[in-house]
Amino acid sequence: MSKSREYLIEEGIDQYFDLEENADYVEMAHDSVSGKLNIPFPADLDDLARIHQLVRNRKSFTILEFGLGLSSIVMADALMKNKKEFDQLSEKPQIRNNHMFQLFSVDSDHNWMNHSKTNFPERLKSFISFHHSTLSIGTFNDRICHYYNSLPDIVPDFIYLDGPSPKDVKGDLNGLTFQCDERTVMSADILRMEPVLLPETMILVDGRTNNARFLKNNFQRNFEMKWDKKSDTTTFELKEERLGKYNILGFDFY
Ligand SMILES: C[S@@+](CC[C@H](N)C(=O)[O-])C[C@H]1O[C@@H](n2cnc3c(N)ncnc32)[C@H](O)[C@@H]1O
Repeated sequence: MSKSREYLIEEGIDQYFDLEENADYVEMAHDSVSGKLNIPFPADLDDLARIHQLVRNRKSFTILEFGLGLSSIVMADALMKNKKEFDQLSEKPQIRNNHMFQLFSVDSDHNWMNHSKTNFPERLKSFISFHHSTLSIGTFNDRICHYYNSLPDIVPDFIYLDGPSPKDVKGDLNGLTFQCDERTVMSADILRMEPVLLPETMILVDGRTNNARFLKNNFQRNFEMKWDKKSDTTTFELKEERLGKYNILGFDFY
C-alpha cells in the first residue's frame, strides 16, 4: 500500500470517498443536461495526502481554495481536526480572525458546485463556504491573465490554487482567449491580493507551473518558492518579519 493511501486511511478520509486512484474514467457518469462530469476527477492520493498534511502541520485557521473537489473534503477534515485540538487548549492567544477553521472554496462551474454541495459530507459542512464566481480575461501589468469576478472577503493563511478550468474564462484580449486548447491557465487573483496577505501565508499550486512562474515573476514581497518537479506542485511562503502581536499562526502555539 502506498504511503499516501496509508496516511489517508489512518486519518479516516476513506469514510468520505473511495480512495481508488485508477477509476475508469470512461465509465463515469455525466450530467445528462450539461454533458459535464458530475463526479470528482479521480483521486490523486499523493496530492490529497500532501494537502491534508500541510493544513495539519501548519495548523491553518482560514483557507482559500480555487477549484472545488476532493481537495475541499480533505481540507475541511484537516480544519475540523485543527479546531478540535485548538478547542482543547487551556490557554489560547488572542487571535484577530473572524473566520477561524473555515475553508472558502471558489468555483466558476455552477453544476459542479451544486453537485459538490449536495454530496459534501454532512459532518464537514460547517467547515466550508461555497463561493461561486464567473471569470474574466484581463491583464496584470499589460500581460494576459484571468480573474474571478468575485472573491470571499477573507484573509487566508493558506491558499490552494487548483482552478479554474480555463474553458470557464470569458472574453478575449485582442483575439486571444482561454478557449484555445494549447493555452495554459494564468490566474492573477493572488497577485491582486498580495499586498494584504500576512507574513507566513502559504500558497500551494497544483500543477499550473506556468501560472506559478507568473506569480513568482510578479510578486513584490519576499515569497520563497519551491517547485517539486516530481509531484508537479509549487509552494510559496511569505517570508517576512511578523507584523505584531496579532500576526499569529496556528503552528506558533500548538
Ligand atoms: C482541477 S479541477 C479542481 C479539482 C479539485 N481541487 C480537487 O482536488 O478535486 C479544476 C476545475 O475543474 C472543474 N470541474 C468540472 N468538472 C469537474 C469534476 N468532475 N471534478 C473536479 N473538477 C471539475 C471545476 O470548476 C474545478 O474547479
